[in-house]
Amino acid sequence: MSLSIIILAAGQGTRMKSTLPKILHPLAGRPLLEHVYIAAGRLDVRAVHVVYGYGGEQIREQLSHLQVNWVEQREQLGTGHAVAQAINDVTETDDVLILYGDVPLITHASLAKLVAAAKDSGFSLLTATIDEPGGYGRIIRDDKGGITRIVEEKDASDEQRRVCEINTGMMTVRAGWLKRWLASLGNDNAQGEYYLTDVIQMAADEGIVISSVSSESAVEIQGVNDRQQLAELERHYQLAQAHHLMKQGVTLMDPQRFDLRGDLKTGSDITIDINTLIEGSVSIGNNVSIGPNCCIKDADIGDNVSILPNCVIDNAVIGNRCKIGPFARVRPDTRLAEDVHIGNFVEIKKSDIGQGSKINHLSYVGDSEVGKRSNIGAGTITCNYDGAYKHKTVIGDNVFVGSDTQLVAPVNIGNGVTIGAGTTVTKDVEENMLSISRVEQKTIKGWERPKK
Ligand code: UD1
Ligand code: CA
Repeated sequence: MSLSIIILAAGQGTRMKSTLPKILHPLAGRPLLEHVYIAAGRLDVRAVHVVYGYGGEQIREQLSHLQVNWVEQREQLGTGHAVAQAINDVTETDDVLILYGDVPLITHASLAKLVAAAKDSGFSLLTATIDEPGGYGRIIRDDKGGITRIVEEKDASDEQRRVCEINTGMMTVRAGWLKRWLASLGNDNAQGEYYLTDVIQMAADEGIVISSVSSESAVEIQGVNDRQQLAELERHYQLAQAHHLMKQGVTLMDPQRFDLRGDLKTGSDITIDINTLIEGSVSIGNNVSIGPNCCIKDADIGDNVSILPNCVIDNAVIGNRCKIGPFARVRPDTRLAEDVHIGNFVEIKKSDIGQGSKINHLSYVGDSEVGKRSNIGAGTITCNYDGAYKHKTVIGDNVFVGSDTQLVAPVNIGNGVTIGAGTTVTKDVEENMLSISRVEQKTIKGWERPKK
């Protein structure tokens, strides 16, 4: 028996008050729907079908990397109608697992149990027993405990509303049966919708035993309807990630003030101080300290690195024993070799900085290559842009660039060169030479300052 998945994602999400379709809102940097897709993908599945509606173009474009069959539901006439749009694309002998695109934290464990429970019976429901069941469909059972139907809140009697076992919406059903039942769904109910939940009674009437699996956490079945719920799930997710990292031996000075939006690979003895944000794909070596207040995105950080407070690092490789910050900005396509020091108010972009070189204060180095053991003085600027094109600055090994130097690119500075403070370098400088451009200093004796 193979498994197919249908993810319902056509709802507009009016309560988000957003032009962005709800399922594209990010949780930990990933669209809600992608979380569901990832959880689903951990099962052994034949195909994933996504029923989409509102914001279709945008959804398909932004999620084009997902391997799914997109099915449009033009009008949102209910969950039963939504599943009906996709059912003809599903192999009839498969089991179908139905998921919601706006319930992002569903766990693999629960889904695996739910699918396993349908192996024999052909029908399983993920239910939960909660203190405040308001708004959910209620699970109705007979005296022997068998599930006979689901009643939606709006259609329920007072007695039924007191039932605390609710429908999470997630279920596994034989595709062939589902197809037949969907064809006879009506919409004669309080909301005038085609309820998927009505198939439960149809199954029970045919003598099919519906198994149920209880969800283990309230968070995994929670849907996102508004931004407050989104923020709540974000905090749950972040804390879970923080706990996972701490179990792996990472010190987080405050797990409540750590955010990871992506994937982080960690070595041993890493300390991350408060308010640090890690995004994209980041790997950190052994014995590294980061923060507080750092943003690190798509970076590869070596061993024994120290990233001081308030640094921003984006798409860069940081070699072993580098020291960065405080207040440094390392921009895309930068590679720092080992033992490089980047100090305060220094911006590096698209540059290779060689082993042991130092750029410690107030500098901009862009589109550059810097050799080994060179020292770039305070206030040095590579003038890489002529208003139309970017040009390269190449600096050799053991170069000393004096403070307040402008290097007007394209320009090459040979090994061992010394550049005097305040120089504007416009021509290449050959190895071991001194280059200096400075207006001669005048000293005027007896000068008196103007007075008021
Ligand atoms: C549904 C269930 C209810 C359950 C609850 C759990 C039905 C009739 N009711 O109620 O028993 O307790 O979920 O949250 O199934 N969707 C579409 N197209 C539509 C309608 C909905 O794709 O025409 C999608 C939505 O985007 C959402 C999901 O289906 O992802 C559930 O829709 P929603 O309106 O939230 O269902 P409820 O009425 O809350
Ligand atoms: Ca809902």
